[in-house]
Amino acid sequence: MLYYLSIKGGQKLKGSVSISGAKNSALPLLASTLLSKNKITLSNMPNVVDVKTLTKLLENLGATKSSEGNSVSIDTTTVDSACANYDIVRKMRASILTLGPLLARFGHCEVSMPGGCAIGQRPIDLHLKALELMGAKIELKQGYVVAKAPEGLKGATIIFDKVTVTGSENIIMAASLANGVTKLVNIAKEPEVVQLCEVLMEAGVSIEGVGTANLSIVGSYGELLDMKDVKVIPDRIEAGTYLCAGAITNSKITITNVIPKHLESITLKLRQMGFDFEIGENSITILPAGKIKACDIETSEYPGFPTDMQAQFMALCTQANDTSIIDERLFENRFMHVSELVRMGANIKLKGHSATVGGNTDLISADVMATDLRASSALILAALVAKGTTKVHRIYHLDRGYENLEGKFSALGANIERLEE
Ligand code: UD1
Repeated sequence: MLYYLSIKGGQKLKGSVSISGAKNSALPLLASTLLSKNKITLSNMPNVVDVKTLTKLLENLGATKSSEGNSVSIDTTTVDSACANYDIVRKMRASILTLGPLLARFGHCEVSMPGGCAIGQRPIDLHLKALELMGAKIELKQGYVVAKAPEGLKGATIIFDKVTVTGSENIIMAASLANGVTKLVNIAKEPEVVQLCEVLMEAGVSIEGVGTANLSIVGSYGELLDMKDVKVIPDRIEAGTYLCAGAITNSKITITNVIPKHLESITLKLRQMGFDFEIGENSITILPAGKIKACDIETSEYPGFPTDMQAQFMALCTQANDTSIIDERLFENRFMHVSELVRMGANIKLKGHSATVGGNTDLISADVMATDLRASSALILAALVAKGTTKVHRIYHLDRGYENLEGKFSALGANIERLEE
């Protein structure tokens, strides 16, 4: 069944919204269960399609699963296949996260290459080069990465040419079971990478440098790990999206179940735009701005401004008092929301990786299409302030990463409905 969201604009928001667990933490944590010699329960799991897809992939490999509410228990001791097939991998690029753990555990694996992705080429060359440095023999056969390391992976020094989040996670997991010490240089510092390291350390892996760009990991010489239950950290991108909803409607709303420190680059940017906050231990309240000021944004790796918030801020900048410049530095094609925002009356000019966003825009409703996960949330934000009723189609993109989106927005007072196409 296909659905669209119907959003009537012009409504102020109020109240509070509870933030779900982080999709981008849940995914590597699910993949890490392949390294475990026991069953693990992951709690605060977001109920989103990407998480279901990776769980399905683990089940396909032979894992057993049970769920209760937002907790999922995974037992990978029953895994008897090391082949992640195309049918599932094509649905979600992050399936590549099984490559490192499968190879480290079984000494061989076949993982379908993730297909081209809407937001750019997104290669996996850095994942593969790192595994080769750890002694793996890798071939690409009929769309599959076929990897072998019959004697086990060996510790190595790896300098990443670029900071890659899932690449870092893949190699951290592989190194945890490798023979000897792996030194990783230029690693991602995202909170989701840190949580993965913490979980592995709890399981007895010695990792130095967690939270910095350089890690030193002592492998277990192939012995599976004694992994403990874990609670997934809050989703900083979902949190940032709701803060932007408060900002674009210039309303006072509170987000709860968050780690404010993980949101610093986002709250800092919103402060520059004129918003103020009440920050609690696990909550943030955004306060309306006198006027919304234009700002310049450049996306970068954590702790910089996240590319996953670029589209939402672009929607917000249409309501600023002047022109804003947004530079996308991570993905070459992450501007697909622009043409849809323009259809709603936005004044946005693109040149290379830079967008010039005119402010003071009266947005008007339209039929628009979601093109990728975060682009879709920008359209919802725009619809909240547009004149009339906007229909956002192809919302399966949103369901990949936002739990109960229309329920949460409705609770904040938005006029939003999920309807059948
Ligand atoms: C992860 C996040 C995604 C976020 C992105 C950047 C997950 C599941 N997804 O994606 O939400 O937008 O980080 O913060 O955590 N690159 C290469 N070769 C590689 C790998 C990456 O050239 O082998 C390049 C990419 O094309 C991109 C940059 O490195 O330009 C960063 O990509 P990367 O951090 O790997 O993104 P993902 O891990 O796929």
